[in-house]
Amino acid sequence: MVFSLFVTCASAQAAVTDGENCMMCHKYPGLTRVNDEGYLRVFYVDSENYAHTVHTKVKCTGCHVDIKEIPHKEMKPVDCSTECHINNAGSEKPFSHKKIVETLKKSIHNPDNPDVRARIVEDFPSCTNCHKNPTYRFDPGDVESVDEARHKERVLQKCAVCHDNNIDYKYFFNHVTHRIKNLAPSEDVVKTCSKCHSREEMATKHKMKNAAATYLDTFHGKAVEFGMPHAPTCIDCHVKKGDSAHNIQSWRNPKSATYEPNRYKTCEDADCHANASQQFGMIRMHSVIDKDIYPIEFYVALGFTILTIGAFYPLLGLMILELIRELFPNFSLRRKKKD
Ligand code: HEC
Ligand code: HEC
Ligand code: HEC
Ligand code: HEC
Ligand code: HEC
Ligand code: HEC
Repeated sequence: MVFSLFVTCASAQAAVTDGENCMMCHKYPGLTRVNDEGYLRVFYVDSENYAHTVHTKVKCTGCHVDIKEIPHKEMKPVDCSTECHINNAGSEKPFSHKKIVETLKKSIHNPDNPDVRARIVEDFPSCTNCHKNPTYRFDPGDVESVDEARHKERVLQKCAVCHDNNIDYKYFFNHVTHRIKNLAPSEDVVKTCSKCHSREEMATKHKMKNAAATYLDTFHGKAVEFGMPHAPTCIDCHVKKGDSAHNIQSWRNPKSATYEPNRYKTCEDADCHANASQQFGMIRMHSVIDKDIYPIEFYVALGFTILTIGAFYPLLGLMILELIRELFPNFSLRRKKKD
């Protein structure tokens, strides 16, 4: 799939700054081919969209590093920990996502993590399983309200008071405001994780619950579906406050945000559960009642069902009899003896 085709907004006039002439060929929408497995591969790059993505400042060869000549040969998949030609802010060192690779290595999403139940390497997520090439959401047509668009334009005018565009202040403005305002929308996070965690065969293979389905069954999942602000997504519960979104651990790991004895700290939140107690954290969040996984819960639930039915039906019977007596006070099945 074309990395840059993931993006959808196309309201601005900007185009890729293309010092390397890649767009000479890749600007053509017809640049497609059906591969050996029968999938359509699209090699077209939408220049306007690309210019609004977070990677717009990276040269094409900053990621597609094995292009040495044009016309070029087939190439290796992009390695997201490549150092690109952009310097890390405040230093002369080239920028890269190595730090994230390291975090990911220490997380449950590394097949070598000791908490992993089934080491099936191809089931584990890599950067592009979870990420597209997101666009900045600055285009006035793309923000939520007209007022907001106008507000942003006015703020930008302030920058122009002192800066000529020689530092590309617009780029920096977008860089910061995009992250201040836009957390990934909750539905997007749930969708990303659901790619794997909603798949029944994945759950069976890895001996875990269908996390997405069980989440959507709970109040939390429903709240996200109905667009309630502050409703917790997978990341809110599985990542400690202030930590990298990539540092996800098994609930069996004492360092994890979901480790039972410490879990209440994750629930504690001024807007949600202000004074969560340790007991509060013991509640299971992906509830399934499965005889094989949670026998205790299963038999408790079964017991309750029997109890409910056992108590309810006799009670209902009594109520009906009482009602009949009230409606027909003189009714009797036995014939009254004539006095
Ligand atoms: C002369 C035309 C031309 C130019 C210039 C060109 N490409 Fe391509 N590129 C192609 C064609 C044609 C394909 C499809 C090849 C195929 O059918 O497998 C392609 C495929 C690709 C692919 C997918 C290849 C793979 O093996 O997965 C990438 C990535 C790519 N180009 C990047 C670039 C970059 C980066 C530049 C600039 C440095 C560039 N191209 C310049 C014609 C060109
Ligand atoms: C931030 C890194 C990055 C930059 C910059 C980048 N790409 Fe890509 N590109 C990727 C990734 C990741 C893929 C998905 C395939 C892969 O994993 O190698 C991809 C896929 C492609 C493909 C499709 C190949 C296919 O497999 O169907 C083409 C064509 C392509 N890029 C061209 C370009 C061109 C042209 C530019 C510059 C305008 C560019 N890319 C800039 C990361 C990048
Ligand atoms: C299991 C899914 C997953 C994997 C794998 C993953 N990420 Fe992330 N990443 C996320 C989530 C979720 C966020 C938080 C998004 C948010 O809250 O806005 C995030 C945030 C980020 C951010 C910050 C985004 C921003 O707007 O500032 C970057 C950069 C990033 N990831 C890069 C990577 C790279 C590079 C890799 C591979 C080494 C990677 N991610 C692997 C899920 C993932
Ligand atoms: C009152 C004048 C003034 C305004 C208004 C202003 N800046 Fe600046 N800006 C400066 C000065 C002076 C510097 C350099 C000195 C410094 O580092 O403090 C600077 C530095 C910067 C830099 C760092 C450039 C570099 O290469 O190190 C960025 C980025 C920047 N400004 C963006 C913005 C943005 C975005 C806005 C609007 C929201 C803005 N500025 C508004 C005066 C201003
Ligand atoms: C309200 C907090 C919360 C939310 C939201 C949440 N989880 Fe969980 N998750 C937990 C807790 C607590 C556990 C450990 C106890 C349990 O299984 O309920 C857990 C366990 C898991 C497990 C391990 C299941 C097993 O069988 O061992 C996976 C996988 C998982 N979550 C993924 C997800 C995904 C994916 C999402 C989003 C679709 C998500 N979680 C949303 C709190 C949460
Ligand atoms: C590409 C597939 C894939 C994606 C996407 C993915 N995961 Fe996972 N996840 C896995 C695999 C595989 C395991 C390890 C299962 C095992 O132990 O064998 C795992 C394990 C987990 C566990 C630990 C379960 C335990 O043992 O307690 C949690 C929590 C989790 N993932 C949450 C998430 C969250 C949150 C996201 C979204 C940001 C996400 N995953 C995205 C494949 C994925």
